[in-house]
Parts: sequence; structure tokens; C-alpha cells
Amino acid sequence: MVSRVIPVDPFDLVIFGSTGDLAQRKILPALFRRYCAGQWPEDVQIIGAARSELDSDAFRDVVAQSLREHAPAHCADAKALNAFLQRVDYVALDALTDEGWGQLAAKLTIDRVRAFYFSVGPRLFGPLAERIKANDLATTQTRIVVEKPFGHDLGSAQALNATLAAHFSEGQIYRIDHYLGKETVQNLMAVRFGNMLFEPLWNSQYVDHIQITVAESVGIDGREEYYERAGAMRDMVQNHLMQLLCLIAMEPPAKFDPDAVRDEKLKVIRALDPVEPHHIVRGQFEGGLSGRSYRNTVGNPRSTTESYVALRAHVSNWRWAGTPFYLRTGKRLVARSSVINVMFKDAPHSIFGADAGRHANVLSIRLQPNEGITLKVTIKEPGQGGMRLVDVPLDMSFAEALGPENQDPPDAYERLVMDVIRGNQTLFMRGDEVEAAWAWTDPIIAGWQARGDVPKPYESGSTGPGDAELLMKRDGRRWQGINP
Ligand code: BG6
Repeated sequence: MVSRVIPVDPFDLVIFGSTGDLAQRKILPALFRRYCAGQWPEDVQIIGAARSELDSDAFRDVVAQSLREHAPAHCADAKALNAFLQRVDYVALDALTDEGWGQLAAKLTIDRVRAFYFSVGPRLFGPLAERIKANDLATTQTRIVVEKPFGHDLGSAQALNATLAAHFSEGQIYRIDHYLGKETVQNLMAVRFGNMLFEPLWNSQYVDHIQITVAESVGIDGREEYYERAGAMRDMVQNHLMQLLCLIAMEPPAKFDPDAVRDEKLKVIRALDPVEPHHIVRGQFEGGLSGRSYRNTVGNPRSTTESYVALRAHVSNWRWAGTPFYLRTGKRLVARSSVINVMFKDAPHSIFGADAGRHANVLSIRLQPNEGITLKVTIKEPGQGGMRLVDVPLDMSFAEALGPENQDPPDAYERLVMDVIRGNQTLFMRGDEVEAAWAWTDPIIAGWQARGDVPKPYESGSTGPGDAELLMKRDGRRWQGINP
């Protein structure tokens, strides 16, 4: 099956912070891949803007180098690469002064979608928004895109929202959480709301508990300063894991439209109970064969920042009362593996007797790697006398089921950047959602600070601190394995 590409109209995209890591590693390669897929027309303009005094040719060289590194397969087509680079331009510009803004204004096209991507730290969001307005660059077709971290706590997120709201309407603000752009995350909604099979069982009567694991094998090298201030709670749980939880827990929206979906997600966040201190485990990686300890990496022998969090959350509403959500995420774990496991209850009575064994159904939604969905069902163990039961997976690997051309689904940024151009906010966070997520996260972090909590050490390359196993064991449950 060949994926369908829906072309977009011509647009101007300005990337502030265009020489930075995110722009070079994610945004520009995503644009290039969409260009190669034929999604956008020839007269698009991509304008890099940053403080570096480069001319357009020098910037194109920088971009070409990044594309060779981050989109190597597409770069094999030299003609496509050159054609893409012709669409790329550059302005040296300072967010804090008037320098460069006149040149930027002169390059923009009248009367088409104009997107400004703030690929910069949040302290520049306000100055950039002000200068876009002051230089009359904002039209009715203007959108701005902002990246996480969206604030450090509730207060700073409210301040950022207020700053942006002073210059742009909510309908113009696209807050990225790149997890929402991941193919399988969207598939989660398709599975839930496109099938009759699951939704009737999707509640505390049939679901024992839910496990959301986002395990990473990478550490924090190159991002020490940011991470030391953030930790796993702010870096991953407040946003990515929270969004996954919302998509699992939300009520069916009436329509797949931005506000209908975001209203339902917001209700989930607001229904979350505060987390009890004994329902949360923080960890910090030690060195191991594969590298330095967290403390060595950040150069702070007394750091108490967590690189791992496991917690038990409760969504207090009719659907989920009594069904816990266990979330865990960490750096330098045994494998890169993001999976949501919906753990169904045991059948109420076994007609086969105690010796047959009992197996509960598990629906696993694999976000990465090997995107796909597996449903474990119980059948008779073949060839045995009597009735012994065994689990078998009904496995749907998207690459296998949909053909080799779907082996490599579009990167989250490809989807999200094109949604900005199309003006579709469904997969972007609304201001009130971000604030509600901070309102739930802040007391957890404040509790750690008040108690002088020190994270539990765990070996690099392990599955995390032993206490995370205990968190489950106390409830008579256990984590599913972290398998690459
Ligand atoms: C980012 C976090 O938002 O997501 C990183 O800041 C993390 O710490 C990354 O590594 C994970 O994204 P992905 O797409 O690689 O799972």
C-alpha cells in the first residue's frame, strides 16, 4: 500500500534558531523528506534566521551537511537535494534588536501561509513575538510554532501563554509535543475509535491496569545544563507521557477536530489525582560498562536530578476509577523501547480448572522501535492432552501489514510541520492543557524538594531502580519487559 500524500499550498516558513540542533537534526530533514514525497510545491520559501553572520550560500552548505547526516537516503538523489536547497534562504537576525528584521520583511511573500518556527529557548518567545508584530510581519495567515519546554512550572507556563496571547490568538499558536506526531500515537486513536472491538472493554470493569513505558538507552550528553534543571519529570512525564495517558484515557471526542480532541484530553488531566509520595520512584543512573554516571556527566557530584521516574497515577472518573496507570521513563536503560500495555483482567471464572493456567489479555501498542500493535490471546496449548492454556500474540507489525514502503513511517516532525502549514491544531497542545499538566506535576516536584528527596541509583543498561519493581509488586503486579 503506497501512502497517500496530500499536497499543501505554497507557504513561507521562517525558522528562528535555524543553525541550532533541533532545526538541523529534525526540522530541516523533515521538510526535505516532505519535499521529496512531493507534498509541497516548488515556490515554497524556507528562511533560516539566526544570529550567525552567514550568507544564504553558506547557510545552504550547513543545511546540505545536516541533510546528508540526518536524511541520507533522500540525499542520494542529488537533483532533489539541489532543488530543495534552492528553496532555502537565510537572514542574519537578532531577536533582541532591530538588526535583520527589515531584510526578513523584504523576503516574505504577500498573501500566503506564513509560519514562524521558534526553535529557540523560551526566553526568546516574547521578544520574537513582539518583533514579529512590531515589524508588521503577522498576517491573518500567520502561525507560530513553539517547542517544549513550555515553561518550567505552572507560573512560567502561564507567563509564556500570556506573552504569546498578547500578540497571537490561540488559533495561531502551535505548541509542539513531538510524541503526538508519532505514527503509532495517532494509530492509538484509530484503534480505539475506528474499531468496535476495543471501546466497550476500555474501562475499569475490564482493564486491570495500564503501563506506559518510554525507555531510552541514550543519556543526556550535550544537554547537561538543561537536563540538570529539568530532570525526567519535567523533560518527559509532564508532556510526552502525559499526552500518551490522555489518549488512552480520554472519552471519545465527538469529532476528530482540534478542540473536540483537546477538550477531552484536558478533562483527563484535570481528573488526575495528586500522586502519593509512596507511589513514585525517582532514579539516577550510575556509570557502568557503557559510560559515565549521571553525576559525572553533569559535573555535579551532589546532583539530585532524576534521570528516571516511575509512578502510579489515577484518573478519577467513572471510566477509570480503580484502574491505575503506571508510567515509567528513564535514560540509559537497557533498550530504547516505548510501549503502552493495556492489561485486561482475568476471565472471571476458569472452566478449565486451576491446572490449565490463566492468562490475561494484553494489548501492546509499540511506539518505537518496530511500530505495531500486538494482542495477546489465550488458546489451547497444541498437542497436549487435557486442556492447558497458552498465550499467543496476534501481531500486527505495520511494516509487515502495510508493505515495505511503510517500513519507515514519516518522522513525527514531518507530520507536525505539515499540519502547521495546513492549519490543523489537533496534534498540538492547547495553552490550558499545558497549564493543567504543570498543575499536576508541580506538587510532585515541590514534595521532593521539601523532603530533600534523593533519587535511587540504578545501573546504566539496566531496567531502572529496584524500587520501581516494588511499586508494582506491592500491588501484586509486574512490569512487562523492556524489549527493543
Ligand atoms: C525530548 C526529550 O522531548 O524527547 C529528550 O527532551 C528525549 O530527553 C526525547 O530523549 C525522546 O524523543 P524520541 O522521539 O527519541 O522518543
